[in-house]
Amino acid sequence: MTRTHTNPDDNRLVLGIESSCDETAAAVVRGGRTVLSNVIASQHDLHAEYRGVVPEIASRAHAERIDKVVKLALEHAQVNLSDIDAIAMGNRPGLIGSLLVGVSAAKALAFTLSRPLVGVDHVLSHLYAGFLHRTPSADQNASTDHSNLFPALGLVVSGGHSAIYRLSSPTSSLRLGTTRDDAIGEAYDKAAALMNLPFPGGPVVDKLAQAGGPDRFDLPVSRLEPNSLDFSFSGLKTALLYTLRGVPTQRGRGGTPALDPTDANIADLCAAFQHAAVKAVALKLERAMHQNPDCVTLFVGGGVSANSLLRSTLTDLCRQSGLTLKLPAMEFCLDNAAMIAGLGHQTLTTRNWQSDPLTTSASASST
Ligand code: KG4
Ligand code: ZN
Repeated sequence: MTRTHTNPDDNRLVLGIESSCDETAAAVVRGGRTVLSNVIASQHDLHAEYRGVVPEIASRAHAERIDKVVKLALEHAQVNLSDIDAIAMGNRPGLIGSLLVGVSAAKALAFTLSRPLVGVDHVLSHLYAGFLHRTPSADQNASTDHSNLFPALGLVVSGGHSAIYRLSSPTSSLRLGTTRDDAIGEAYDKAAALMNLPFPGGPVVDKLAQAGGPDRFDLPVSRLEPNSLDFSFSGLKTALLYTLRGVPTQRGRGGTPALDPTDANIADLCAAFQHAAVKAVALKLERAMHQNPDCVTLFVGGGVSANSLLRSTLTDLCRQSGLTLKLPAMEFCLDNAAMIAGLGHQTLTTRNWQSDPLTTSASASST
């Protein structure tokens, strides 16, 4: 049987390594929950001029930074390599060249230190981020028994993924729905590029949206088939494009002029975009709750879980539905290695700290 909780006396230290996209990250986590260090070297400046992540640039930057990032994670945690009990590596899904850098570093460390190695699914680790905390006092107060939180629903909203899961434990999940086109963060980034806003666009659109009104532009909320738990964000992005560029008159009828990109107009457009995107997510979650009435918790993770409107909407939704909401602290929303170390700890606990073989490799897709 799968164990769903860690031993309260389990103070083992796991070093997590993450390099699936454009963040080189390492973290040391104690007992699967207390984050002693969380070092993230972002590459945003390297990709900004391309308005998206360039895989070759990303993997080269990971290779240049990984040693220093691991060293810093140990330093910040005030531990030595010999204190580490296991190595967790984000080995799927992601950009294959990027993943390989973190995976190679993790394997080299596990081999030299003779410590167990565990490969962790990046997307599912986002759902674990709600368990992570910094302070020892929170650690003492927190229950280490997770069983009362399951079965649960999981929502991953990031630059590469938008999906809903049913979870029976932190390590056991079934995907109920996913995006049919763009991920929600990708849609935010593309919408920002159309509005000439900097990359990554999500945080910028979120900030501008708070100064605008959502009702001036009527952007579509994707619903799909009545029971579907899938997402689609490409229609919303296209509607934003037409609102910006205008629609030509056809045979003297219809048509709308291009939008004058004043600060006020762009703020209103950001607010309308954010309103439609978040409403689409809330709608699918309501369906998932209806279809899974036994679920008692909603775990949320991924970069877009930092979004102000999504956080308040999910708080309201869970309050109304009686679900416990597990939202990550802001520092654990974006890609990080603490979530890899945390879920790695859970996975190792369920199998008596038995190592994955050193032949375990990186994979571009989820398992
Ligand atoms: O989880 P993450 O760091 O990387 C992936 O696994 O994809 O997510 C990055 C995404 C980017 O698309 C970024 O624009 C988006 O998260 N993001 C936001 C916000 N902060 C980051 N989107 C909307 N609102 C935010 N506040
Ligand atoms: Zn991610």
